[in-house]
Amino acid sequence: MKITIVGGGYVGLVTGACFADAGNEVTIVESDTKKAGMINEKTAPIYEPGLEPILGKTIGKNLRAELSYDSVRTSDLTFICVGTPANDDGSANLSFLESASRSIGTALQKPTGYHVVVVKSTVPPGTTGDLVRPAVLTAAHKKENDIGFAMNPEFLREGRAIEDFQNPDRIVIGSSSSMAGDRVADAYRRFQSPVVRTSLAAAEMIKYTSNAFLATKISFANEIGNICKELGIDVYEVMKGVGLDQRIGSKFLDAGAGFGGSCFPKDVSSLTILAERAGIDPQILRAVLAVNEQQPHRLVALLENRAGQISGKRIAVLGLAFKDNTDDVRDSRAIPVIRELLEKGARVAAFDPMAGPNMQKIFPSIEYAGSAADALLGADACLVMTEWPEFSRINHEFDGMKKRIIIEGRHILTCDGKEGICW
Ligand code: UDX
Repeated sequence: MKITIVGGGYVGLVTGACFADAGNEVTIVESDTKKAGMINEKTAPIYEPGLEPILGKTIGKNLRAELSYDSVRTSDLTFICVGTPANDDGSANLSFLESASRSIGTALQKPTGYHVVVVKSTVPPGTTGDLVRPAVLTAAHKKENDIGFAMNPEFLREGRAIEDFQNPDRIVIGSSSSMAGDRVADAYRRFQSPVVRTSLAAAEMIKYTSNAFLATKISFANEIGNICKELGIDVYEVMKGVGLDQRIGSKFLDAGAGFGGSCFPKDVSSLTILAERAGIDPQILRAVLAVNEQQPHRLVALLENRAGQISGKRIAVLGLAFKDNTDDVRDSRAIPVIRELLEKGARVAAFDPMAGPNMQKIFPSIEYAGSAADALLGADACLVMTEWPEFSRINHEFDGMKKRIIIEGRHILTCDGKEGICW
């Protein structure tokens, strides 16, 4: 099939590359000339294991990046993969989506075959039908049935996006007509996963609900973890026994510093706003966010409990990325922790295998060490904020500390003398 992807970011680039790898002819429409250039040079502008080898195989053959929307006119499908960042009030900013919809409509003004516009961006339920569809049809000067509309959410984890795209637990397709949905299903015909066919709004809600439930599991694990901490129980022992219940499952029950990233905080906030606008009081969702906001402060309180006054003290922070295997610091739990340490007058020495440069844009004045050992040298205490596998191998590096006060926000260390936020 001929597929256009609008937006060459985390979702669009991975989606385009994987569809090209499956034999489709794919054009990625990317407004950032530098990013488009990198893609056409077979260089990935984002860190995703497995992505560059796919670019190497497909660029120049059946994958390319372009600045213009021209390819829309001759494609069978156009996936919209633009960002929907949070507004200040927590609601979803849909301006990029609206602008992309209008550009797609303009490209479809000239006579074309049947075309399907597919929203893959995470959007509040009702967006595809009430915003994207009218914007496209108006710009295209076309009627309802000339263009099909669908909603096909992604469930990609950063750092594992290629693996998640190629091995989906399910493929969700919401559509305005069965013809539109069939066209999208055809693009996934080589995948073995169950396909859920539903309405546009239900597909949008499946995405929000999936992320909100995963975030709820994490905040639930953290609340149980906070209780266990007071009772001298290791919550990881508890969750081992809980997670074996098939109805619960063991994944996403890792207590710690809380969830970060560009999705969970944004999507749960957006769903909370949506509920309030619908006249429903989102008590659980609000509590999920409240527990998540509290975890970093609990970590600093635990540090002060062990180290006393931290003003003027050197505190090593190991891990800046919001999770392992990425350089992304968006909503990283390390951000509120570093902010509070600085407010309390501590001197922060940070280390992260990949995310230092990105965190430097937020906290330019703290020390960025080249290794964990350098960050730990002379430190009065250490906080572990990201579950980098290499941190599990750190041991003698702690000997360089002035005091061996080691506090984990992630259950990752194997050395002696550590203490966890919930264990
Ligand atoms: C998430 C969803 O998993 C994915 O399906 C969706 O498409 C996008 O949002 P991502 O944000 O990339 O993916 O990361 P994820 O691996 O889900 O972790 C999110 C955050 O939760 C990280 O900060 C991680 O450290 C934290 N986390 C995860 C926990 O604190 N405990 C857990 O058990 C799992």
